[in-house]
Amino acid sequence: MFPSYLQAPNSNEIGTFLALDFGGSNARAAVVELKGDGTFMELHRVSRPLSDPITGRELRAPSVNAEELFDFLAEIIQKVLDHSPLSPIISSSIPFPLGFTFSFPYHQRRIGEGLLLNWNKEIKTAGVVGKDVGELLCAALARQGLGSVVRPTAIINDTVATFLTAAYQDSSVDIASIIGTGHNTCYLEPKAPGFDGSLIINTESGNFSAVPETLYDQRLDQQSDTPGEQLFEKKLSGKYLGELFRQIILDFSERGFLDFDFLRHWNQPYSISSKDLSLILTAEDNHSRHLFNIPRAELDIFRRVTLLLFKRSARLVAASLIGVILHQDPHLIKPHTVAIDGSLYEGMPGYAQELTAALSEGLASKSSLVTVKLSAGGSLTGAAIAAALEKLM
Ligand code: GLC
Repeated sequence: MFPSYLQAPNSNEIGTFLALDFGGSNARAAVVELKGDGTFMELHRVSRPLSDPITGRELRAPSVNAEELFDFLAEIIQKVLDHSPLSPIISSSIPFPLGFTFSFPYHQRRIGEGLLLNWNKEIKTAGVVGKDVGELLCAALARQGLGSVVRPTAIINDTVATFLTAAYQDSSVDIASIIGTGHNTCYLEPKAPGFDGSLIINTESGNFSAVPETLYDQRLDQQSDTPGEQLFEKKLSGKYLGELFRQIILDFSERGFLDFDFLRHWNQPYSISSKDLSLILTAEDNHSRHLFNIPRAELDIFRRVTLLLFKRSARLVAASLIGVILHQDPHLIKPHTVAIDGSLYEGMPGYAQELTAALSEGLASKSSLVTVKLSAGGSLTGAAIAAALEKLM
């Protein structure tokens, strides 16, 4: 439960800010203009994958060090500056404020700091754990010659970025969740101990652990880079659903329930992605059978297993959201709006409906008080709003 050092925005934050987003698959930077009245505009965006199949560069590997990773981020910021209409503004002597969305667990004693506690989502870059990512970014910006041009002022989690972007446009938002490669939720705490007034708290709920486990969950965890950590996330997020599916199908095969030649190719951990699962569900029978070389009867089994995994994922998320809502409002008397972003929620057919159904079941007659809405792509805008809020502190 990490304080974000930020309150909800009031929709009138104004100004032009640099924004950087580092989430695990891509790094992105942009110039964002906040216009007030809940409106904003992204002026220029540069996005780069952390893993480049053409050059073979893999920035998540343990052989890559912190300097290389943060130099890569500074280069992206440089690219944004090269192509943005900011040049006249940044030639002034005041460094340009940058908001940084960093989607990993970190400890923070002030808004501009972020001491990485541990990597997750299978990232292994060396030399970052235990370091302040704000300082690493400042040092990389200095190496890039941008030390006096850009000043990272706010570091936020991606759930907080989603919260800020959604709440900037709709003041009823009081919870935000990511259901994508990873999973996590933040919420507005009305009275945070040690702070005046309300505060957004990053729960890092992906690391919740009090959840019943199957044999497959245990296997996945034991074979992962971080045994015993992120146990909640490992049961439900996009990074892990394909691997859980693979563990289940291999087990069926070992027990003699299924006998596929092609399973020989499935020995590689993480060789099935949640995108593959979505294809298994949605592709025309012939197409997906051809894709995975699956006989008809087995395709039905694959679909059932996939549906069960999605259903369990949505129900676990719903349970944790209900926990947060009842913490905020024990008798559930006020309306709440949950903003959600993430590839699983947005892209997986039927996922959003499963989540709504589970929330309705759990909240029963009070379910009409809770609204869930998609708030896609708020990482960069949220970082800009955080930089704007920091300026007002
Ligand atoms: C992981 C990270 C968390 C992030 C989530 C979604 O759970 O620990 O900080 O919010 O993934 O990206």
